Amino acid sequence: MEKPKVFVTRVIRDKGLDLVKQACQADIWPDELPPRREALLERVRGVEGLLCLLTDHIDAEVMDASGPDLKVISNHAVGFDNIEVAAATARGIPVGNTPGILTDATADMAFTLMMAAGRRVVEAEKFLRAGEWKTWSPSLLLGVDFARATLGIVGFGRIGQAVAKRASGFEMRVLYYDPSAPVQRPDLNAVRTDLDTLLRESDFVSLHVPLTPETRHMVDADFLGKMKPEAVLVNTSRGGVLDQSALYETLKERRIFAAALDVTDPEPLPLDNPLLELDNCLIVPHIASASVQSRDRMAYLSAENLIAGVNGERLPHCVNPEVYG
Ligand code: DGY
Repeated sequence: MEKPKVFVTRVIRDKGLDLVKQACQADIWPDELPPRREALLERVRGVEGLLCLLTDHIDAEVMDASGPDLKVISNHAVGFDNIEVAAATARGIPVGNTPGILTDATADMAFTLMMAAGRRVVEAEKFLRAGEWKTWSPSLLLGVDFARATLGIVGFGRIGQAVAKRASGFEMRVLYYDPSAPVQRPDLNAVRTDLDTLLRESDFVSLHVPLTPETRHMVDADFLGKMKPEAVLVNTSRGGVLDQSALYETLKERRIFAAALDVTDPEPLPLDNPLLELDNCLIVPHIASASVQSRDRMAYLSAENLIAGVNGERLPHCVNPEVYG
């Protein structure tokens, strides 16, 4: 029997790619950069499965270009704001994602960024390399304390809770804003609160909400204006959650201490973006899940979703289970 045809929009880690190649006739986009729109529309034609990355915008046009045989869209990410899920559901196509397996890596990075921005690690390293280190000095590159500080977590799903777990080692008090979470988590020294209280009381604010029409630019001038002047903001969710112009004004005028971003809008962030002029803004290129183990697991899970889909089986991780009736 002929193996099902699939398109994979980038070379993923071998742990997943080998699985896909064994089970499918795989057309694998070989370039470092994602396929452009025209190429994407061309390459999906007639496939039964699509394995895509968060850099691919998969909408109704792509699904229709693929044709009636398309049985599954498997996203190599836990976030799926790059896919028009409603359009997939309307066509009966299950959409897969990779939850759980990158929780720890992402929480680790949220903490890494929080500490690096709070203790000015990157700025200090640049200072040293520029030959500006003349002597030990009592007021050189002062940062903020973590022990017993208050951490505000916006979005208390898997990753938000994993960040709270890490905070316990610092004896931090944790506040979280998430209407769907329980009112308190004594095991994590954490209590639910409204957003204004969280912003007013937190020394660190870490964002862990998905990007949806409701959360787009949730962090705007008003949000930032409610934060403490010595607070640090961390974003490892999606760039679109944050209004970057408002953040730029806030940081430039030093109305908060610092921000650290793993995600931006757009990605990559153009080098002339004003945020890059600021020494109190630390930005890394969307690498929160970039540990060897996490990326291997993401490749494996997205391959499993793809293969289940082309074989007409239920996806192990499906974001629109309503397609199964
Ligand atoms: C995801 O999986 O959504 C992450 O953003 C990848 O790092």
